[in-house]
Amino acid sequence: VSKHQAESMPGLLLGDAFPNFEADTTIGKLKLYDFLGDSWGILFSHPRDYTPVCTTELGQAAELSPEFTKRNVKMIALSIDSLEEHYSWSKDILAYNNDETVSEIPFPIIADDRRELAVELGMLDPEEKDQSGMPLTARCVFVISPDKKLKLSLLYPATTGRNFDEILRVIDSLQLTAHKRVATPVNWKPGDCVMVPPAIPEDEARSLFPAGVYTKELPSGKRYLRYTPQP
Ligand code: BEZ
Repeated sequence: VSKHQAESMPGLLLGDAFPNFEADTTIGKLKLYDFLGDSWGILFSHPRDYTPVCTTELGQAAELSPEFTKRNVKMIALSIDSLEEHYSWSKDILAYNNDETVSEIPFPIIADDRRELAVELGMLDPEEKDQSGMPLTARCVFVISPDKKLKLSLLYPATTGRNFDEILRVIDSLQLTAHKRVATPVNWKPGDCVMVPPAIPEDEARSLFPAGVYTKELPSGKRYLRYTPQP
């Protein structure tokens, strides 16, 4: 991959069919759709092996993997280093976690040392370069639905670590709103009330949500701030 290619990345938009890429990973070669099967997926990149923020993030992702499994989400990490480096760095990540009961990172890490996938998926951070001037991968998160569409994307720079509890929280919202005609408000967590989307007329909302709809009175007189218990 040339510097020019790396600097003009295409990227993916919400709702796009996720590319069914093939990649070398720490569990062998995989093809994305075969790996995901009917599950949800999360693909997250990090800038480089043997770097401090990335080590804390992958440690946290490994620790939270049972929470992703509970939600039927398969995890895949990516960085632009080789398989050998991933295997060796994995031992550091496990040591950082200080949990002797875990002897393997519970998800594959893609070895994208030619940056081909990082360019295809728009994951590079042009501000953060290696010694030869090539951009590193940003901290990118893609959540993929069972129909292989991009449902959420987050893009953080190398210098800002992600919050994996927040990623679980948004997956809870994505999975709820995939099946119920609701939206989740600020800081929502499972069990909290949800919002009735504006496109649903009042009559329909009453029959759709038999647990009741509470509408907050507002200075505008408009009746759009409507809550209902989580269905
Ligand atoms: C890190 O993971 O610690 C890191 C990687 C690249 C740039 C800055 C920080």
